[in-house]
Amino acid sequence: MKRRSLRDRVETIVSADWNRRLFDSLIPLPDGTSYNAYLVRGSEKTALLDSADPPFEDALLEQLADVPNVDYVVSHHAEQDHSGAIPAVLAKYPDALLLCTPKAKDLLADHLGVPEARIRTVADNETLSLGDKTLQFLHMPWVHWPETMTTWLAEDKILFSCDFFGSHLSTSNLYAADEPYVEEAAKRYYAEIMMPFRKTIRSHLTRVRELGAEMIAPSHGPVYNRPETILNAYADWVSDRISNTVVLPYISMHGSTQRMADRLADALVAQGVNVALFDLAATDIGKLAIALVDAATIAIGTPTVHVGPHPAVFSATHLANALRPKLKHAAIFGSYGWGTKAVEQIAGLIPNLKVDVLGTVLCKGLPRADDYAALDKLAAVIAERHAKLPQA
Ligand code: FEO
Repeated sequence: MKRRSLRDRVETIVSADWNRRLFDSLIPLPDGTSYNAYLVRGSEKTALLDSADPPFEDALLEQLADVPNVDYVVSHHAEQDHSGAIPAVLAKYPDALLLCTPKAKDLLADHLGVPEARIRTVADNETLSLGDKTLQFLHMPWVHWPETMTTWLAEDKILFSCDFFGSHLSTSNLYAADEPYVEEAAKRYYAEIMMPFRKTIRSHLTRVRELGAEMIAPSHGPVYNRPETILNAYADWVSDRISNTVVLPYISMHGSTQRMADRLADALVAQGVNVALFDLAATDIGKLAIALVDAATIAIGTPTVHVGPHPAVFSATHLANALRPKLKHAAIFGSYGWGTKAVEQIAGLIPNLKVDVLGTVLCKGLPRADDYAALDKLAAVIAERHAKLPQA
């Protein structure tokens, strides 16, 4: 895509990765993604904010072909999807200085081999005049790395937010207001990338609101020309609001755990509890992460493999623990052939989740009437706890 204008002499350079289906060899990308850079040309100086993932290096340089000079390259975040093409940009513009936070300096040297002499660090709130446009650097660590910053362009009231408010979404729509899929893509992005830093993000959100931005321009996905939408969505996601929902990830080898999952789900729904069921043999873990954003309870279902949980359950449980959702309660259920330590092993996988384990139901072979009764009772206990959740 060619550069497109956001304001007078403020342009997006979108590297659209329509067909990427996996990020970090882990995160599904059903809608692809984009790596957005921005070109800001003041009356005296020019700055390029971020770059692109290394496979898009040539495409980025092509978009810069008619830009004779860049004085500053701003690296908001050292991760390669934004900084990977910076060495090539610095080679094209040998007099350009790379600006970043002090923490990013080492990371850019470690990950990309950027020579120290090309880097100038910027302090929190520091301003840089480009002539009739002024950049202000706002350090915002832990969204989601420690070195991250954003840039505020005061004259145009645009916040360039890098990963913050991003969405893995490849689209020809420049603006989020025109993009029907952005809401879920942004929530997926928050769930997978930002959720572990919920409390830090809360304080950054306050700072962002005080700017009064007319646009928020992230480095993935479309630009928010009505920032209230994404600010309000983030405010909800990082809040303490918890929904009357049980997330129920499970897997089944011979059908026993499947029957238990179905029974527990039916019993919960009958008790007025919402359920999000995920068969880990087929599920998109991004959907699971989205469901965890505000759910009150996780109920993990597993058959037993070599005494422990099924590896897919092990992996999903480890992921849920790493994402640190707001969960208040947990339950474990499943089946085994001849012996099991699955419950103990799953319980040991969730130290970050500050949950009460409300019950465990394990059955040998096929579930029988007393197993179903135990699941019904578990559903009743969960419903009782959910009834005590603070109302939004
Ligand atoms: Fe989009 Fe943390 O990189």
